[in-house]
Amino acid sequence: VDTSKYLNRVNSNLDLLLSDNNALSEVMRYSSLTSGKRFRPILTYAVADSFGVELNFADSSACAVELIHIYSLIHDDLPAMDDDDMRHNQPSCHKKFGQAQAILAGDALQARAFEIIANDEKLESDTKVKLIQILSNAAFEMAEGQSIDLSIVAKTVDIETLKLMHSKKTGALLKSSVELGAVVSGCSKKDLAILQDFAKDLGLAYQIQDDVLDIETPEELLGKKQNSDAEKNKPTYPKIIGLQESKGQFKDLYDKALNRLDMLSVDAKILKQLTQKLADREF
Ligand code: IPE
Ligand code: IPE
Ligand code: MG
Ligand code: MG
Ligand code: MG
Repeated sequence: VDTSKYLNRVNSNLDLLLSDNNALSEVMRYSSLTSGKRFRPILTYAVADSFGVELNFADSSACAVELIHIYSLIHDDLPAMDDDDMRHNQPSCHKKFGQAQAILAGDALQARAFEIIANDEKLESDTKVKLIQILSNAAFEMAEGQSIDLSIVAKTVDIETLKLMHSKKTGALLKSSVELGAVVSGCSKKDLAILQDFAKDLGLAYQIQDDVLDIETPEELLGKKQNSDAEKNKPTYPKIIGLQESKGQFKDLYDKALNRLDMLSVDAKILKQLTQKLADREF
């Protein structure tokens, strides 16, 4: 399965969606039309595709979840948060446009995300309400996770606290990307529950891996500063349980996620391949 068709689809849809002329256009486009991996919208498309749904029914969800992600990264890089100067191999949004414009672009992208779903004429109203419930809850949890992240800087915390923080700041939105695909596909409750368990493991794995990559991947490849977590004195999995043990844990979680896919009522080939791609990522 070639997941590049999903990547191309979300990239062209984002370009189109952000093509209107408004005061924030340049800032929003600068941070949105980048080399981001687009794993969240790709997951949304992969779930819809697995259930045989035409991809145009998943377009608004795929774009919306990526816009929430982009907004979260713009704010995450701000001086009041992680204070990072580089993102996607270019100066972070506030470095290029100043803090006020970066904050506002984030606000605007979040609003646009919900607007895109609400305006989707291909979907029934009750479907759209479900999608908005899922995405708004995930955006809320992401903010909560970020709040925990910043409140424990320079503190010693146990692994359960880190796990909770990871599940919220990163896990929630990844899980929502899978759920959005499930809702547009109208899959059974049983399949939805399997996908939710799959996505929980995947989301936690993804952030533990992000903390490992922060240590091991050079900036040219990572597209953002290496060792940012250590410099900011962030409690991370590698810091608390060590690098090797962290690698073991995220790999185990990806394996667990993969195995769950066997229980789905449909062919999970696409989702398995994608999960393997996430597990093997180098940046
Ligand atoms: C980075 O996410 C921040 C996390 C929540 C781990 P990604 O690695 O998925 O971001 P992109 O691919 O650069 O957009
Ligand atoms: C990011 O966590 C989580 C969100 C943006 C919600 P990080 O702070 O580790 O992400 P990077 O490493 O800056 O991409
Ligand atoms: Mg952060
Ligand atoms: Mg950060
Ligand atoms: Mg990180």
